[in-house]
Amino acid sequence: MTESTYKAVVVNRFGGPEVLELAELPDRPLAPGEVRVAVKAAGIQPVDASIRAGLMPATIAPPPFPITPGNELAGVVVESASDDWAPGDAVLGFQPLVAYAERAVLPGAHLVAKPEAMPWEIAGSLSASGQTAHIALEALGVKDGDVLLVHGAAGGVGTVAVQLARHRGATVIGTASEGNHAYLRELGAIPVAYGPGLPERVRAVAPGPVTVAFDAAVGEGHIADSLELTGQDASRVGTIVAYEEAEAGRAVAIRGPRTAARLNELAHLWSDGVLRLTVSRTYRLSEAAEAHRAIETGRARGKSVFVTG
Ligand SMILES: NC(=O)c1ccc[n+]([C@@H]2O[C@H](COP(=O)([O-])OP(=O)(O)OC[C@H]3O[C@@H](n4cnc5c(N)ncnc54)[C@H](OP(=O)(O)O)[C@@H]3O)[C@@H](O)[C@H]2O)c1
Repeated sequence: MTESTYKAVVVNRFGGPEVLELAELPDRPLAPGEVRVAVKAAGIQPVDASIRAGLMPATIAPPPFPITPGNELAGVVVESASDDWAPGDAVLGFQPLVAYAERAVLPGAHLVAKPEAMPWEIAGSLSASGQTAHIALEALGVKDGDVLLVHGAAGGVGTVAVQLARHRGATVIGTASEGNHAYLRELGAIPVAYGPGLPERVRAVAPGPVTVAFDAAVGEGHIADSLELTGQDASRVGTIVAYEEAEAGRAVAIRGPRTAARLNELAHLWSDGVLRLTVSRTYRLSEAAEAHRAIETGRARGKSVFVTG
């Protein structure tokens, strides 16, 4: 290593977007199997804002301050203690609490090769939403002939879920605000507006009964609407948001595991033209507070991404 410090977005106390600061951090030595990546792009997610506010997911042990949010990135390997990677390799990968930075250390097992044609900002924002959508469709057994309702279909997760479900042969109805309806049609979904009266609006456009539903949206009431539409079949209603509904037996809780194999499959689907990803806005690391204010509106079209360099 020639440089010994790097810039990172850090949180030194929990709070609003204003607690995000740019800091200079020291590089740490690599443990066996780890890889240091010069980050080119890092996706921004609602969970990053929750962590910043002090709501750490149960799956992450709370680390000491300073905390660097962000769990998905793409970049170039600059140092490797893994047999699988060498300096100069272009990669994308996933690891909690490392990504909003110029450099990040990840296990080599959490990286995959970046397809040459994939732009950095796409590579840096593929893992989290992509893997979540992939896990959900697998858990719900979405298949040819299904009629799937996706809540929040234009968001980061929804965008991928719509396309993967279409690829599996399902008809997809997606909820979004009016301004995202043309976008949903382009992705291959039948758009409907969310809000009161949703089941009637869905029945009016569905080619047959809704057989499966995926809640990937901000807001409430999605599980009740989904149960009504699927004939109260909780085994075919999945959520990544309303875990209390899942605990009450009204839905399937969608959870990991995120794996390199799954990410690699998504990268190949992108290369094959099956999966299209939308980056609605890019930010510099110095604009982290603005990026979090935007993500906390709960309105989205695809992903927002930090770019460096
Ligand atoms: N558990 C997990 O593993 C996991 C992983 C990823 C995400 N999540 C959660 O899943 C949700 C979606 O994540 P994301 O990254 O896709 O977020 P996102 O990109 O910010 O998208 C949010 C979506 O919610 C929709 N929405 C906003 N208000 C709504 C309402 N009142 N009713 C219905 N839909 C509404 C938005 O639609 P419009 O923009 O069209 O208005 C948008 O599609 C978030 O709550 C996030 O925390 C969980």
